[in-house]
Amino acid sequence: MTNSPIGIFDSGIGGLSVAVAMADLLPEETFLYVADNAYAPYGPRSAESILERSRKITRYLLASGAKMVVVACNTATSIAIDTLREDYPAIPFVGMEPAVKPAADANGVGVLATTATLRSHRYLKLRNKYLSGKPVFEDACVGLVPLIEAEPSGSPLLAIRLQEILDPMLQNGIDTLVLGCTHYPLIKEEIEAICGPAVNVIDPSSAAARQVQRLLKKRGLLTSLSKGFPGTRGLAHIFATSGTSAPLQRALHQLPGLNRNRKLIVPQVHF
Ligand code: DGL
Repeated sequence: MTNSPIGIFDSGIGGLSVAVAMADLLPEETFLYVADNAYAPYGPRSAESILERSRKITRYLLASGAKMVVVACNTATSIAIDTLREDYPAIPFVGMEPAVKPAADANGVGVLATTATLRSHRYLKLRNKYLSGKPVFEDACVGLVPLIEAEPSGSPLLAIRLQEILDPMLQNGIDTLVLGCTHYPLIKEEIEAICGPAVNVIDPSSAAARQVQRLLKKRGLLTSLSKGFPGTRGLAHIFATSGTSAPLQRALHQLPGLNRNRKLIVPQVHF
């Protein structure tokens, strides 16, 4: 079991931002990543539909031998992670939620997340706990996830949409911006370029990777394979998708951290 892959899923390429941080911290681990892009974006979907997709993908990951499941998607975490933990009490799960705690000392906070996340009980509870009484400006970033899936970084279409989203927040004087969707760290440079140095952009990927490491250690699930150990050279990260593999191919090409282990793309799995 310890040498089994870590299962990771997202509606698309967003979870790669978490996978990169995990690869950095845990270079000996291998990943089985699912991009559910036939059903993306998740943000505008109903809670029932997001829960159903999350359950189907989790079943696939565990049937494929995953030792842990990282729900590398704020939207799926906010809707489904409690149920997944009930469904599989013996399996460690790590989820993503908007990192509002590090924004607790800010004067004005912007939160970028999906409609489903912003409406979720989980997010509202966090906001009340850490940001109550503070000016908070939220945007559901309609259309941004499909643009990140389709457009290369540096695309003018992305820049225009980002400007539309961020301008009102900047005019309201935010000093902290929470990236509450795993797709957004993939365009962090573009976001920071628009926000300027006075805004602290919070990307939770590294904190999530540390949580994965902590949990693997605690459960005795860290891989015993180390780099250069005979027989480990063929180990590959596997990336499966329910739709077209083009966004994954493009994104992985730009993420050398995930190319250290050989990678294998399995297009069109039906979950
Ligand atoms: N990357 C996802 C998240 O963190 C999903 C975005 C979407 O599919 O709408 O919320």
